Amino acid sequence: MQRLLVTGGAGFIGSNFVHHVVAHTDASVTVLDKLTYAASREALAGLPADRVELVVGDVADEAAVDPLVAGHDAVVHFAAESHNDNSLADPSPFIRTNLVGTFTILEAVRRHDRRLHHVSTDEVYGDLALDDPKRFTEDTPYNPSSPYSASKAGSDHLVRAWIRSFGLRATVSNCSNNYGPWQHVEKFIPRQITNVIDGIRPKLYGSGENVRDWIHAEDHSSAVLTILERGTLGETYLIGADGEQSNLEVVRLILTLMGRGADEFDHVNDRAGHDLRYAIESGKLRSELGWRPRFSDFEAGLADTIRWYEEHEDWWRPAKAATEASYAAKGQ
Ligand code: NAD
Ligand code: TYD
Repeated sequence: MQRLLVTGGAGFIGSNFVHHVVAHTDASVTVLDKLTYAASREALAGLPADRVELVVGDVADEAAVDPLVAGHDAVVHFAAESHNDNSLADPSPFIRTNLVGTFTILEAVRRHDRRLHHVSTDEVYGDLALDDPKRFTEDTPYNPSSPYSASKAGSDHLVRAWIRSFGLRATVSNCSNNYGPWQHVEKFIPRQITNVIDGIRPKLYGSGENVRDWIHAEDHSSAVLTILERGTLGETYLIGADGEQSNLEVVRLILTLMGRGADEFDHVNDRAGHDLRYAIESGKLRSELGWRPRFSDFEAGLADTIRWYEEHEDWWRPAKAATEASYAAKGQ
């Protein structure tokens, strides 16, 4: 696969994936990205111009999508509206981008018989009890809670139906919560790091007992490339790095790593319908495709991420005040 079309490649994980592809393959990449509030051109800076091109456009726009899909060997579909809290405030862009956008990609991939990898989330499975010994597997029934996770679940179902009904050459991955550089300050970890930098106390929704299964974005990228290159067509792979942490533990760790008291945080209004726990069993990806995460030490990865935000204030500063104002309006 020499020519890749990466949708959402100017976002947090998509841009990491583009860097990963450039570093580890000979492929050339076209990024198709609408450049929403969540995107950043800076995340793609420094990449070789003869191998990476950015096309500004909407995945739900058939006229933009069709010729791009026709001109590439494979599509890696990251583009999405990605934040649960935004989906509670206004679900409509989630329906358009995540459902209509995926439909538009699927139809172009079908017309031109191209290879597709669809990037999704473990949130399609709903949540687990804190004391449940089970983790999500590829066979866990879908049970999404929020407009975001329901729109991603719907997009997965579309991909699965196109595989079964039309023989589409596609794979799907469902990954747990990512952290690392270039993540928007609306998300949990960057919000708390930048709060501490700004002398604001971190904000924990509700009790903070909710558990997320953290994986570094670089490990997500290596898993997606592995599936694209060696995954079995038609299959779904769960991606996770055994990184379960409660939100309370993460906030305490951020505070400690940044030289503050571990209790210098506030409890704020809980998220409506807040999923309790996510946990990934990634044995299929590891045993069938030999993938392994590189960032197995969460504390070390978090310390690197904190340093990155300390050194890249120019990048996140313009989004910070408006993000905090919108949270404050909701008592969060
Ligand atoms: P992000 O919000 O940082 O980036 C999304 C990118 O998609 C942005 O560059 C945005 O401009 C682009 N985009 C949005 N709407 C578009 C449209 N209509 N047309 C073209 N481009 C559009 O998101 P992210 O965190 O990098 O997530 C990327 C993918 O990974 C998503 O599909 C998400 O569901 C999935 N995922 C994310 C996580 C996570 O922890 N962030 C975990 C598992 C899966
Ligand atoms: P988030 O980064 O929004 O990811 P997701 O909703 O996909 O899991 O949130 C991660 C967890 O952190 C989730 O349980 C909600 C919680 N959270 C807070 O406690 N405080 C915050 O300020 C934010 C943004 C999230």
